[in-house]
Amino acid sequence: MKILVTGGCGFIGTNFIRMMLRKHPDWQIVNLDKLTYAGNRLNLLDLEQDEPRYSFVQGDICDRELCMEIMADPHLDAVVNFAAESHVDRSINDPSPFVTTNIQGAQNLMECARQNGISRFVHVSTDEVYGTLGPEGKFTECTPLAPNSPYSASKASADMMARAYFETYGMPMVVTRCSNNYGPYQFPEKLIPLIYLRAKADQPLPVYGDGMNVRDWIWVEDHCLGVELSLLKGRDGQAYNFGGDAEETNLDVVRTILSILGKPESLITFVKDRPGHDLRYAMDFKLAAEELGFAPTIGFRDGLVKTIEWYENHADWLDQVQSGAYRNFMNQWYEDRT
Ligand code: NAD
Ligand code: TYD
Repeated sequence: MKILVTGGCGFIGTNFIRMMLRKHPDWQIVNLDKLTYAGNRLNLLDLEQDEPRYSFVQGDICDRELCMEIMADPHLDAVVNFAAESHVDRSINDPSPFVTTNIQGAQNLMECARQNGISRFVHVSTDEVYGTLGPEGKFTECTPLAPNSPYSASKASADMMARAYFETYGMPMVVTRCSNNYGPYQFPEKLIPLIYLRAKADQPLPVYGDGMNVRDWIWVEDHCLGVELSLLKGRDGQAYNFGGDAEETNLDVVRTILSILGKPESLITFVKDRPGHDLRYAMDFKLAAEELGFAPTIGFRDGLVKTIEWYENHADWLDQVQSGAYRNFMNQWYEDRT
């Protein structure tokens, strides 16, 4: 099988490409990535150098000519779209790139896949399209979409477009909706790597609001497994939920990181809340369990220990991704919150 993976130099895409090439000796992967601030070509440099089944194209999923050219390859079987602007806080500062990449870019890929008769399209979405839960209940695939941030609104728009491509053109389309991922290669603007980095440096750890917001955390390779199963066995036109069965308050996540690192809880600093901050996400993934055989493989604390081990062993990676622009963004972001 030959697959076009978009956004493969980001957090989840990197893990997905590594895992799929490891598991499937007969798969070939083309990675199309624009290399925004969140994309790092060095993540997969060893594959570029030594793995003939992997190739990299730097480019934008909004570029019609380029995407048409890549998808004209008669050997290409499938597209998996990870490419996105992915950070909620950045979407609050400026929604425009989210509309461009997450909606227009996704539609451009769908259109190119349609015109080239690609036999499978997996669009990677998020639990955030469902909006927020109160203290009880879980999101199912039948929960109405009710996004609250510019990020989740852009992802929900692309989900609707995917649905339309299936209903209107019969395009073989599957949408995956997953909860919060953690693991190797996550960019240190998201909660877990950010807290790790700041705790290591004995800096204050910003917890939004009262820290009682709840996320369901999934080990990144378990999400990759869900995407793989959707690609191989998903029903056309269906959306599938994936989760880690690991609901945690943000405060508990931060405390667990501190306990693993042996750092004091006095570093915790409550800061201004995120506007429109969703209270709770929780996933019912019965459909994926029944139809695809999906189950998460690792509990939250074990996964967190593995994640921290990875960051400890990849200090060079962390240095590399902390560009001047990153430091400026983070300084401004911290100032705005305190
Ligand atoms: P990320 O921000 O780490 O990586 C995104 C990648 O997409 C980067 O490599 C970036 O360079 C690339 N990209 C951005 N705009 C592009 C464009 N216009 N053309 C080509 N490439 C472009 O994101 P991630 O955390 O790996 O998330 C991947 C996907 O999974 C996203 O679609 C996201 O919405 C979804 N998702 C993420 C999570 C999570 O917890 N991180 C949870 C559920 C769903
Ligand atoms: P994040 O990793 O940005 O993922 P998402 O917004 O997609 O869920 O944030 C996870 C949770 O942690 C979210 O409730 C916001 C909160 N948070 C903090 O409390 N402090 C922080 O510094 C960050 C980045 C997030």
